Amino acid sequence: MAKTRMLIAVVVLSLGFIAHSATQNKTKTQSGYYLLSEKVFQLLEKKKKEKKTFFKSVRAIQRADGFVLTSMSDYELSKLSHDIHQELGTCGGFFDVSHEYEKTGFTSLDFSDYKDAKESPHLVDLFKDRQIKNLEIVKNQLKLVQKSRFESSLQQFTQFPNRSSRSENGKKAAEWLYNKAKDYARAAGRDDISVEYIETGRRYVQDSVVIKIPGKSTFGSGVLIGGHMDTLTWGNNLPGADDDASGTISTLEVFRAVVDSQMKFQNDIYFAFYAAEEVGLVGSGRMAEVFKQRGTPLQAVFHLDMTGYLSSSETNELYFITDYTTSSLNEWTKNLAVKVLEIPARKIQKTSCGYACSDHASWKRKGYNTVFPFESSFDNHNRSIHSSRDTVNLINIDHAMKFVKLGFAFVVELGEPINN
Ligand code: BES
Ligand code: ZN
Repeated sequence: MAKTRMLIAVVVLSLGFIAHSATQNKTKTQSGYYLLSEKVFQLLEKKKKEKKTFFKSVRAIQRADGFVLTSMSDYELSKLSHDIHQELGTCGGFFDVSHEYEKTGFTSLDFSDYKDAKESPHLVDLFKDRQIKNLEIVKNQLKLVQKSRFESSLQQFTQFPNRSSRSENGKKAAEWLYNKAKDYARAAGRDDISVEYIETGRRYVQDSVVIKIPGKSTFGSGVLIGGHMDTLTWGNNLPGADDDASGTISTLEVFRAVVDSQMKFQNDIYFAFYAAEEVGLVGSGRMAEVFKQRGTPLQAVFHLDMTGYLSSSETNELYFITDYTTSSLNEWTKNLAVKVLEIPARKIQKTSCGYACSDHASWKRKGYNTVFPFESSFDNHNRSIHSSRDTVNLINIDHAMKFVKLGFAFVVELGEPINN
């Protein structure tokens, strides 16, 4: 009898504990489909042999175009991502393709668009001979971008213990952005501005957020600026200040400044906060797909991921990432930076990740023009990211402000302000 009571007590206690941890964490652990580069797959095979217990059931489902399609649990993916950092000394090399897999089954075996797609020669290059038409307006309005507001928003946004796309914290971070956007629009009496969630998918609790300032022209082509809001999905203390509160809050500050300017535009302007970047560019992948499905034209996508770190040995002002971006747009934006930030062209350099390192790749894969200004050369980037050390006190606010100003100039110029 005593034994039975004891057993019941144990069962009740453990159930209580399980329920408690479930509500505490509210994380979702399931499995998904991932496209790995051959190099990453080889690492996985090696680890499979070494660790014996991990990755046991992970195998190649399909192979094509230098990629291997596999299925694994969220936990296995986080282990793999850790191993990639440790062993290959790089990041990335995988895409979460669960959504596409479930929809299409990848029957056509065509993974080629996951590579850095060659620029389509048949498309009219919008940026090759494009002029900068609104420099005076941009310069006059640049004061609307506020350093103190940027800094205080950055402080607030990094107060979440983490912004994991699979946790309640991540969901709250998305709600924070959504509410800020709504508040800014409401305060300015702008009921034409819409704020929308774009679903990430059933394996995530965090959704992306997109703001739209509609343009006046029916034939216009929009412009989008964005950054990812999430942090890694493991570890609790992840402030993600540089990666990527810097890009997220820059986007928010650009929005605020555009609203404050009271300018009206020919073209739609979008401000995007992507969910679930750190798990394989998932939120931006969904958003690019939604834009494509809706047939929403965009001239350009301006991406910000890591803008606040300046190494003491750095002599250049900023860099442009060359992979998964549009070369003519890079040149055009560099020219804009020279004029607006008043910095010499020789202090603006190019650098590359060498893999699809952020959300710009999701847009590029869908055929959109992208540009990705970055804080440093890839080799000199902030090494504190993905850890509890990625805090606001390591952020150089003046450095970050260059990207906010450039983002503002970019959307105003391409939004085509209507003079009246
Ligand atoms: N902000 C990083 C990308 C990055 C890191 C750019 C270092 C330049 C230098 C981004 O959030 C990230 O961590 N990306 C992943 C890849 C992605 C496909 C999950 C990475 O680099 O591991
Ligand atoms: Zn990251």
